[in-house]
Amino acid sequence: MFEEAQYFAPVATQDDGSVVVELAASHPGFADSVYRARRNAIAALAVGYQRGTPIPVAEYTEQEHEVWALVSRELAIKHRAYATAEYLDATQRLGLPTTRIPQLQEVSELLEPLTGFRYLPAAGLVPLREFYGVLADGYFHSTQYIRHHSVPFYTPEPDVVHEVIGHANALASDRYAALYRLAGQAARRVESEEALEFISKVFWFTLEFGVMREAGELRAYGAGILSSYGEIEEFRGMDIRPLDVAVMGTTHYDITKYQDVLFAAESLTHLEDVVGGFWTTCDDDSIAGLLAERRQHA
Ligand SMILES: [Fe+2]
Repeated sequence: MFEEAQYFAPVATQDDGSVVVELAASHPGFADSVYRARRNAIAALAVGYQRGTPIPVAEYTEQEHEVWALVSRELAIKHRAYATAEYLDATQRLGLPTTRIPQLQEVSELLEPLTGFRYLPAAGLVPLREFYGVLADGYFHSTQYIRHHSVPFYTPEPDVVHEVIGHANALASDRYAALYRLAGQAARRVESEEALEFISKVFWFTLEFGVMREAGELRAYGAGILSSYGEIEEFRGMDIRPLDVAVMGTTHYDITKYQDVLFAAESLTHLEDVVGGFWTTCDDDSIAGLLAERRQHA
C-alpha cells in the first residue's frame, strides 16, 4: 500500500533489538537476501549511533565500490556540462574518492576543515524538525547504504551517492553551506508544522532541485539533480519558473518522479538574496502571511 509514495524505506527495531529495513516489493534489492541483510546491518549502525563518536564503518562489497566508481565517473562528466561553477569548484576542494565508496566519517573529516559541516548517519527518514534543525549546527543527516548493484543508475531512495556526491560536494562550498545553515536556523525558529513544511519545500526547490542561470545557460546546484544520472539530462526541458519563495513554499512535489517544475535563480547572489534572505528573517507569522496571500490567489 502507498508504495508509490514511499521514498525512504521504513526502518523498524524488533523486540529482540534487531533492525529491519522494509524494502518495497518494487525495490531492485527486494529479492536479494544478501543485500537485505546488509541493509539491515547498515541501518543498525545508525540506530545505535551516539553523536560525538566516530561514525561506524559500513562494510561494502566490491560490487558496491564498483557502482560508486561507475556512477561517480559518469556524473563527473555530466557535472562539467550541467553543474554550476560554484559546485564544480567545491568538488575540487572536497576531493572525494572516485574509485570506492567513502565512509561517512571520512566525508566529515574532508568537509569539516572547509565549512565546518559534519555528517551524521541516518537509518532512513529523519523527522523534518531534527533533519533541518541540526543544519544550523553544521550537521547533515545522511543515509549510508548504496543502491542495488543491478541498477547502478537508479535508486528509489536517497542513498550514499545522493547524500555525498549531491550534498557533500555542495556543502564544501562556503556559500552553499551558509544557505544550508540558514535553512536550519529558520527551521529552529518556527513552531508550527505548516511553517516548517513551508521551509522544507523552499529547501526542496533550491538545495535539492535548484537550478541557476550562468553564462546564458541553465545549470544545476540542487543535490537531487546533481546525483541523478537521468534527471541531470532532463532538467533543462522542465517547466522553469522564476525564483519565488511564496510559490516554492506552496508548490506540491512528487518525490517519486522527476521534478517537472523547477525554479531558477538568476545568479548565486540572487539565490542568497531571495532564499537566504527569507530563511534569515522568516518566522511563523511571516510564513502564515505568505500562506494566506497564496490562498487568496488560488
Ligand atoms: Fe537530499
